Amino acid sequence: MTDRYAVIGQPISHSKSPLIHGLFAQATGQDIAYTAIEASLDGFAATVQAFRASGGRGMNVTLPFKLQAFDIATDPMESARLAGAVNALKFEGERILAQNFDGLGLVNDIQRNLGVALAGKRVLICGAGGATRGAILPMAQQGPACIAIANRTADKALELKRAFAAHADLQAGGYDELAGESFDIVLNATSTGLSQAELPLPAGVFAPGALAYELVYGKGLTPFLKQAQAAGVSHVADGVGMLVEQAAEAFEWWRGVRPDTRPVIDRLTVPLV
Ligand code: ATR
Repeated sequence: MTDRYAVIGQPISHSKSPLIHGLFAQATGQDIAYTAIEASLDGFAATVQAFRASGGRGMNVTLPFKLQAFDIATDPMESARLAGAVNALKFEGERILAQNFDGLGLVNDIQRNLGVALAGKRVLICGAGGATRGAILPMAQQGPACIAIANRTADKALELKRAFAAHADLQAGGYDELAGESFDIVLNATSTGLSQAELPLPAGVFAPGALAYELVYGKGLTPFLKQAQAAGVSHVADGVGMLVEQAAEAFEWWRGVRPDTRPVIDRLTVPLV
């Protein structure tokens, strides 16, 4: 029998998840159907329960429901508890298991696909919202020399430093505090990838040979990536690999089979121009 999965969000028509999971299923011979479901802003829990009651086996959760998904989970795994947000659900009888694979997807993309080891590296994450929260623990587990969080609202970066104190020794503050520092890996986890805003990054923030990584995908050269190139960075990437890698983690969690991500990343890649 075909097992059913779906991604839920609002809006949802732009989602690449049905395509990605469809390609994974084809390549691994898994008999699944994966659709996109739009929920009204106050109808998230009811929509999930209806999907589950009709035989659905699991869901991906995207904006703006990642926090609400945490609230309906009966069994949030560590990745979800630390992020305080959820991007994948698995239904097992009465239980709703929840994970957040965004951070692991990011780490796998950087290390496996882009060939940049995190161990011993100086890492800067710009932004202190949900995307950063999900990334901190999986990054810290790779043993970087340091992780700095810079945010327009410095207090939010400091809040994250406190929240993760038991797991990571974060450096945190505003962008002006980065003066004189340089980093091997600079991630843009702000929402500026979707706008035309530049980040107030001081000159020299990119170390020689640095990787500049935009978490948004499919937008070509974002203002952040242009900024990096203007500062001499040649290794730039967007979040297409992160998107596919987090999907692969969910697929494996649901089906027990690890799909090959490379062909799917190649299919979805939009040139950075
Ligand atoms: P997400 O869940 O995608 O991380 P979010 O929680 O809304 O989204 O967080 C958005 C992040 O982008 C925040 O860190 C925000 O900075 P503030 O906390 O100061 O609002 C950051 N951001 C958005 N627009 C920005 C801009 N023009 N310049 C700098 N940072 C910006």
